[in-house]
Amino acid sequence: MTMIRQNVQVLISAEEISQRVQELGRQIRDDYLEREMVAIGLLRGAYAFFADLTRAIDLDFQIRFMGVTSYGSEQVSSGNVKIVQNIDAPIFGKNVLIIEDIVDTGQTLARVITHMRYQSPASVRVCTLLDKPSRRLVDVHADYVGFTISDQFVVGYGMDMNGLYRNLPYVGVYNSV
Ligand code: IMP
Ligand code: MG
Repeated sequence: MTMIRQNVQVLISAEEISQRVQELGRQIRDDYLEREMVAIGLLRGAYAFFADLTRAIDLDFQIRFMGVTSYGSEQVSSGNVKIVQNIDAPIFGKNVLIIEDIVDTGQTLARVITHMRYQSPASVRVCTLLDKPSRRLVDVHADYVGFTISDQFVVGYGMDMNGLYRNLPYVGVYNSV
């Protein structure tokens, strides 16, 4: 099934995503062999990546979610990041791996990392499917990056435009027509 949409051009195919997810899974497994990991997915955007990536990490670890919003209906981050659903169990002393769909201005990640550090985890690392470094406004970086992309608005594989296109199996560039 291709799921073609007229205003979405494929940027990263489902096959390319899947291959990269397997690579990231192996790398994360090697890095966390000796450490107790908690994977925290940022909802909603990271849901697809989170489900695939966690199944590619051959280790025993806990899974949590956090709900974060910053976008209104526009394609720009408002900078007003809200935690709409908190992690439901303590992360004190744990090795936290935050799993995110895309790091754009970096404001969401900065807010989430600050929030988590209050709970004194042993470590905090970030794995993002996509990185848009040219758009960064705050100094945050991801430890694991699936793909670095240029300044384009993307949808699919969890990411939305006004709530739509999250279910596309690929990452595409959205063009308003
Ligand atoms: P930041 O706070 O500007 O780094 O924005 C991060 C959040 O905005 C991500 O978690 C996404 O949910 C969303 N976002 C940023 N860029 C895009 C995009 O190109 N398409 C869809 N969502 C995006
Ligand atoms: Mg997100």
